Amino acid sequence: MARPRVFVTRRIPQVGLARICEACDAEVWPGELPPPPEALREKARDCEGLLTLLTDRVDAALLDAAPRLKVVSNFAVGYNNIDVAEATRRGICIGNTPDVLTEATADMALALLLAAARRIVESADHARAGLWKTWQPLGFIGQDLCGKTVGVVGMGRIGFSFARRCRRAWEMRVLYHDVRPNPRAEAELDASLVSFDELLAESDFVSLHADLNPGTRHMFDAAAFRKMKRTAVFVNTARGGLVVQQDLVQALREGWIFAAGLDVTDPEPPAADEPLLRLANCVVAPHIASATVSSRNGMAEIAADNLLTGVAGKPLRAWVNPEVAPRRRL
Ligand code: DGY
Repeated sequence: MARPRVFVTRRIPQVGLARICEACDAEVWPGELPPPPEALREKARDCEGLLTLLTDRVDAALLDAAPRLKVVSNFAVGYNNIDVAEATRRGICIGNTPDVLTEATADMALALLLAAARRIVESADHARAGLWKTWQPLGFIGQDLCGKTVGVVGMGRIGFSFARRCRRAWEMRVLYHDVRPNPRAEAELDASLVSFDELLAESDFVSLHADLNPGTRHMFDAAAFRKMKRTAVFVNTARGGLVVQQDLVQALREGWIFAAGLDVTDPEPPAADEPLLRLANCVVAPHIASATVSSRNGMAEIAADNLLTGVAGKPLRAWVNPEVAPRRRL
């Protein structure tokens, strides 16, 4: 029997890739950079399955070019790169990779919070540049963490794990804002659900863990940054599109907030002259929150499972659009 044809848009950890290559007639894009949209459309033409990254746009034009496509397995928990409604309308299953990256991403949010609050990158750059002349009583004064208030925007799996660290390690008061309450966060972390404005006004640290969708895009704009404390630290490990980037630049430049720690920007990568990359009170990492051995291996395993079950017409392990089941392409 012919093996299903699939296209994998980048090399992923072997633990997942080997299973895909064994079970399928698979082609793997060899480049370091994503396939350009026209190349992706061409590669997808005869495929039953696609394994995509968050840098691949899966839109109506791509889906039109792939009439045999049964499944798109996204190597990420976020899937804002995919037009899920269009895929569902065509009977195509979408998979993602939740859970395995939760702790690593929460760790990264915490690392960025610490780095920005305690000016670690700025002061390390100073030492590296040979500028460390003496111990300075007034040098690199940052923000305390113990007993402060943290505001979590999006109390899902990652937001919860981040808040748990803040609560248990630094005894912080936890506020959160979400479209739905999180009873576990309230019971275990004594977290309080508050309005967006209340969270901004009350929090010493604001960490963003929301999905990017039309309702959340640009939720952090000048008005939001203006409502934050001048001593506040802003952390984003979710998606750059949640923030109006030029407004964040202004907030950091003009001291509306103290500092920011970012793992994501809009666009990615940022332009070479992006001011955020030069501001002393901003730490920018290149979207590495899930970059640990166990997270990336776990993501590869789930993405392989989703792809293989998707082409076989079985339920996906992590299924973004299970409602497609009754009319999925077989
Ligand atoms: C995701 O999974 O959505 C992250 O942004 C990358 O791991």
